[in-house]
Amino acid sequence: MSRHFLPPKLLLLSLCYLSSFRLYAQDTAAETGNGPYQNGMVVCATPGASKIGADILRKGGNAVDAAVAVQFALAVTHPEAGNIGGGGFMVYRSKKGKTNTLDFREKAPAAARADMYLDSAGNVIPNMSLATHQASGVPGSVDGMVRAHKKYGRLKWAELVQPAIDLARNGFTITKKLAGALNWGGPQFKKLNPGKTYFLKDTPWKEGDLLVQEDLARTLEFIRDNGRNGFYKGKVADEIIAEMQTGKGIITKKDLKNYHSVWRKAITGKYKNYKMITMPPPSSGGIALLQLLHSVEKYPLHRWGHNQDSTVQLIVEAERRVYADRSKYLGDPDFYKVPADSLLNLAYIDARMKNFSWNAATPSSSIQPGSFAGYESDQTTHYSIVDKDGNAVSITTTLNGSFGSKIIVGGAGFLLNNEMDDFSAKPGVPNMFGLIGGKANSIQPNKRMLSSMTPTIIEKDGKLFMVVGTPGGSTIITSVFQTILNVIEFDENMQQAVSDKRFHHQWLPDNVTVEKDGFSQATIDNLTKKGYKIIPGGPSGRVDAILITKDGYYGGADPRGDDTATGY
Ligand code: DON
Repeated sequence: MSRHFLPPKLLLLSLCYLSSFRLYAQDTAAETGNGPYQNGMVVCATPGASKIGADILRKGGNAVDAAVAVQFALAVTHPEAGNIGGGGFMVYRSKKGKTNTLDFREKAPAAARADMYLDSAGNVIPNMSLATHQASGVPGSVDGMVRAHKKYGRLKWAELVQPAIDLARNGFTITKKLAGALNWGGPQFKKLNPGKTYFLKDTPWKEGDLLVQEDLARTLEFIRDNGRNGFYKGKVADEIIAEMQTGKGIITKKDLKNYHSVWRKAITGKYKNYKMITMPPPSSGGIALLQLLHSVEKYPLHRWGHNQDSTVQLIVEAERRVYADRSKYLGDPDFYKVPADSLLNLAYIDARMKNFSWNAATPSSSIQPGSFAGYESDQTTHYSIVDKDGNAVSITTTLNGSFGSKIIVGGAGFLLNNEMDDFSAKPGVPNMFGLIGGKANSIQPNKRMLSSMTPTIIEKDGKLFMVVGTPGGSTIITSVFQTILNVIEFDENMQQAVSDKRFHHQWLPDNVTVEKDGFSQATIDNLTKKGYKIIPGGPSGRVDAILITKDGYYGGADPRGDDTATGY
């Protein structure tokens, strides 16, 4: 595939979790498919949200307008992760190459305490940070969308929220995967929401059933009519507080009123002649991605090839070291002095790789987080957008677990996140993704929990090259990393790069998880002999990405989900 760039007459929106089927035959102007498209593209988790985003682009909306519409549409069509009760991160690059990021990550409520998930013996209480009213951080998505729209939007706010209202009120036909997910969540919905009927049905959900969400439609109308105040104040806020009171939840009216998303400077780094523009803390994703890329940069990956022995070994050893650093040094920069410069110092990263040997796996027990002289220690979804003027947006947003805490705000009809589990509840005790942490990511009132979300935009020779991101908990960073290498080193086209098998190592536990058929038997045998513990893993992430070439926009929509690319 060519790597040249289109003239700046492009619109493109890639939402993490969209895909590539031809579903909109009635609409000749926008169609699903991998492209190339000359005017714009949306790649995200559901066909319905993808179409809504593309329609906004065709109406003259810019990338941020489309992102707002997609965020709300995903809250309707992708209840596992699309949300108004969660949070996320946006990476933005303007047509002129100016960059910015928006942190709309949830915050710990003011009443949160470091030991809030521990019993009297100091042990972590199972599930308390996952499936209770105390599991939720103060939601950030609505404030994030309002703030992004205020700064960059072009179309009217109401016009962007309305398509989601219509979908919620009129209903939409569900896919096989969503039917499966709703059936999987059923017992928990029932148990955690006594007296409520949201997402429940007498007979199992099946493909083609209509999902109507009237209460959610009304909530979205408040947001349409009142913006931020439609969620953080008034009826919806009252409903959130009433919901909290049914289960010892600690989010207060004041927490809602005080929630604000934050603009943060993007972190950037080089890989060969590419420039990475990515998310700073409180996501660990950007720093980890840049560390990983530099760790492997000087090796001949292209010659070795995709998922070949040396490639896998090198990547695993880099990942092991980077995730060790993550466990100690990454947290909310408003509360903890994250040593970003030290972590991204190229000599430091090179030094971390010095004790790697080709002969044998480095046991994770022998790897500790690095140390720096002079340092004082003190089910997610992604979308990316570039509009016809050349502005680009890459957003990852989440409730954390699939359907978040599975608790639905009574009367308001939306799911609450269980993002508090992303904090380190106790040093050394793994969270739901097996990640451990310490002081940097301890719970404190109003602090943001550490994330792995890695929305990223890549430039080549100063021009827009790729928009990429994924859900997948701790595997987010390694999935984004491998997708980028698949294009840059292994010459794969965007769809191949997204579809290709992935693997993952995160320091602890000391395992390499690999997707089905990801490695040849010979590779497994060779690496096992060297001491690598290779275990089969399920599908890793749902990468949705767009590549900009001289022929147009090419989408990569992850076949692991219902992800759909729509362009025109
Ligand atoms: O912010 C994070 O890193 C996690 N809450 C992301 C969760 C996630 O990706 C779940 N989706 N598979």
